[in-house]
Amino acid sequence: MKIIVTRTYDDMSKEAFRLVKEIVAKKKNACLGLATGSTPLGLYDLLVKDHLDNKTTYKDIKTVNLDEYVGLDKDNINSYAYFMRTNLFDKLDINLSNTFIPNGIASNYEEECNRYNKVLEELIPDIQILGIGSDGHIAFNEPNTPFSSLTHVTSLEESTIKDNSRLFNSIDEVPTKAFTQGIKNIMNAKQIVILASGKNKQNAVYNMIKGNVNESCPASVLQLHPNCIAIIDEDAAKLIM
Ligand code: F6R
Repeated sequence: MKIIVTRTYDDMSKEAFRLVKEIVAKKKNACLGLATGSTPLGLYDLLVKDHLDNKTTYKDIKTVNLDEYVGLDKDNINSYAYFMRTNLFDKLDINLSNTFIPNGIASNYEEECNRYNKVLEELIPDIQILGIGSDGHIAFNEPNTPFSSLTHVTSLEESTIKDNSRLFNSIDEVPTKAFTQGIKNIMNAKQIVILASGKNKQNAVYNMIKGNVNESCPASVLQLHPNCIAIIDEDAAKLIM
């Protein structure tokens, strides 16, 4: 794993932007693996700015997202589908039919997971953007999820529900389950870029980089990926320096 420590969150976003832009500029029909959450917002702002300033086009770009809350439909303001549209897709010239995300309101979980695994067999990300949970989760693969897992429905840890409650009116509104790509799906990406910012990620970053490769820290699996870059701001990198 290559590690880049940046001084600030903005510098972290710029490093990530450089890597995504390189791919989008080189391969017009590239596949981008995308994450939600606070961490990639700076990167998404830079992609939008670059699209407006330099006319970088996303006409033939495809995207696959990591996860979606169970029970939230695509127009619910807390759904990840809504997050992606409002923070990125609606601001680019991307064709929404080229963007893929699990269907939060699918009633047959198994059918939806199988459908999404098929999508992921077809669409292998040229670059996968990841954030990291304070408990070391990637996508919604919580500690002790098997490294061999494919798309599944998972119960969110208390700490994840608490971390994510800042985006809801109250903690009781945070869904307790989510559809998530499995760790095996994520590891298929040609390149992985994991971003981490802020003091509350220090322990997770330490375990991801310095810890043993172990299912107790899902992000530690990235040590085994042949082309993974961790871009970490100084606040999140304190324990590895
Ligand atoms: C989001 C996702 C999650 C987040 C993680 C960090 O699609 O898969 O794993 O990346 O929970 O969230 P933030 O960036 O909000 O700290």
